[in-house]
Amino acid sequence: MAGNVDALFIFLLIVSGLMSLLIFVAIIYFAARYRHRKGVQAEQIEGSIPLELSWSIIPLAVFMVIFAWGATVYFQQRTPARDATEVYVVAKQWMWKLEHSEGQREINALHIPVGRDVKLIMTSQDVIHSFFVPEFRIKQDVLPGRYTVTWFRAIKPGTYHLFCAEYCGTQHSGMIGSIVVMEPAQYEAWMSGGSSGPLSASGEKIFAELGCATCHRTDLQGRGPNLQGVFGKPVQLEDGRMVTADENYLRESILDPGAKIVKGFKPVMPTFQGLVSEEQLNALVAYVKSQSGAAGVKDASVSAPGQAQPEGSKVQ
Ligand code: CUA
Repeated sequence: MAGNVDALFIFLLIVSGLMSLLIFVAIIYFAARYRHRKGVQAEQIEGSIPLELSWSIIPLAVFMVIFAWGATVYFQQRTPARDATEVYVVAKQWMWKLEHSEGQREINALHIPVGRDVKLIMTSQDVIHSFFVPEFRIKQDVLPGRYTVTWFRAIKPGTYHLFCAEYCGTQHSGMIGSIVVMEPAQYEAWMSGGSSGPLSASGEKIFAELGCATCHRTDLQGRGPNLQGVFGKPVQLEDGRMVTADENYLRESILDPGAKIVKGFKPVMPTFQGLVSEEQLNALVAYVKSQSGAAGVKDASVSAPGQAQPEGSKVQ
């Protein structure tokens, strides 16, 4: 993606540079050519069709090229691959908390293998932050109260800077970390270094603890909709609307159950606002997704006792 972003940026730079040059040259030329001289009277010119057409059509063509090119790069950047590895990101003043689908937790560091698509599902515990990895040319705001998504595929092993790019308080400038891109074998070794089990398994535990399963039964007799296979599918609502069951839909349905009532059901679910943390919410979402065989949960085989002690850990 970085190559495409750079190419577009360089093109914009060249077009702007040429245009500036043209304007400066024209100013100097006209200033000299039409300066005030004794005995010479200025005369008014009333329009010129060829001139007006050319200064309309040529810029239009240039801008359309920029638009089409920009849109192509934008859609590429906004569309994560379906089989991307998923990592949940929770931002807070002033650190990045990251959790792999396989259960590894990290603070201010993200270890990923080279050449794999990585989708980041991000939210904030307090104010607006922004996930910025200059080398990958990605920058995405991280907002409280909803998920935002970005993705990348690192093509070269190494350690890359992670910044917060949205002023978020006193220690905003210290809200930094690193993306560690590893060779697959190295990554496997790192992965086996301990995890509390897959994220979806933690979610399943929370799902049971909160008693979700008493209503969200799989036998269609429950007071809430059956959640199996629901992720990524269209959902018919009581008020006639159709929505897609994505991460934000699941999130909203947990925190504000009355917002979107599924057709045929009553608004009887209590809110879990304030009762579940962002991490627990991520785990619940991962669990519901796993019930639909969604991406990012397929290789949930790594499991070892003990808590991962990630690089750059700080006080929670
Ligand atoms: Cu977080 Cu700036």
